[in-house]
Amino acid sequence: MQRVRKAVIPAAGLGTRFLPATKAMPKEMLPIVDTPTIHFIVEEAIKSGIDDILIITNSTKNSMENYFDVNYELEMRLKQAHKDALADEVHQIASLANVYYIRQKEPKGLGHAILCAKSFIGDEPFAVLLGDDLVVPQDKPALQQLIDAYNDKQTTILGVQKVPHSETNKYGIVSPSKEVRPQDTLFKVTDFVEKPPVEKAPSDYAVLGRYVLTPDLFEILEHTQPGVGGEIQLTDAIRQTMKNHPLYACNFTGERYDIGDKFGYMKASIDFALKRSDLGPKVRDYIKKLAKDMQ
Ligand code: UTP
Repeated sequence: MQRVRKAVIPAAGLGTRFLPATKAMPKEMLPIVDTPTIHFIVEEAIKSGIDDILIITNSTKNSMENYFDVNYELEMRLKQAHKDALADEVHQIASLANVYYIRQKEPKGLGHAILCAKSFIGDEPFAVLLGDDLVVPQDKPALQQLIDAYNDKQTTILGVQKVPHSETNKYGIVSPSKEVRPQDTLFKVTDFVEKPPVEKAPSDYAVLGRYVLTPDLFEILEHTQPGVGGEIQLTDAIRQTMKNHPLYACNFTGERYDIGDKFGYMKASIDFALKRSDLGPKVRDYIKKLAKDMQ
């Protein structure tokens, strides 16, 4: 059995929901308090046992490469100012993981972004973590749960969570092969549709930014025609792989935030600040004051 040891983080989208900030900076670099989203995603991959990470970028995303590199001048200046702990912290980031980059030359969709990883991945199963989906683990990282499921089934695994029925039109929704009980963490899927009208949604289980995929997907992607919005859709290609092998959904645990959405970003910022010992008490007091003033 082949181990899942490589991950792809597609981060070459236009981020139109977060304009104007994303005109000049990638949404993956938006900080949650003081740490860019992409840092948490790379950390999740490492904690899930991934050795090599490929980030799909574009020409406006150099700041991500700088973030995972060493910045000697900054470190030297911090040391001169006797801020050694801070100098060590920024240095550590460069040795978090083996991070590689490739540019998607045109934003032709998520499927096309994944296809850019073909020669990096070769002929082995691999993980995908979307660059704007942040998951705070309960016990195990979300990707680790998917990799455990892959080790069990050795086939494509989609990371899913239940969403409110009224929001099913915003996501890829799976069709479970039988009724899913609350204790079912892994179940077989018979179909997978992108953003169905609410009344046609086959379930409330939405695919949320985590996948373990098999290498046969690349050949399919090479022949996948542009779908919704003129983009090459990952969903269309994954559906095609069902001719080769079954499809499973892993109902992962953890709190998921959509950082590409303004409200999702605000929620993550508040929740993270509340959990920090340096900021939590101040933020809590401020929220209480706001709530009182609103009454
Ligand atoms: P999204 O649709 O959430 O990202 O794509 P977007 O296109 O950047 O955002 P909006 O809708 O315009 O605000 C899901 C993921 O796929 C990546 C994105 O970076 C994001 O992580 N993606 C999307 C690519 O890498 N390339 C693309 O051509 C499209």
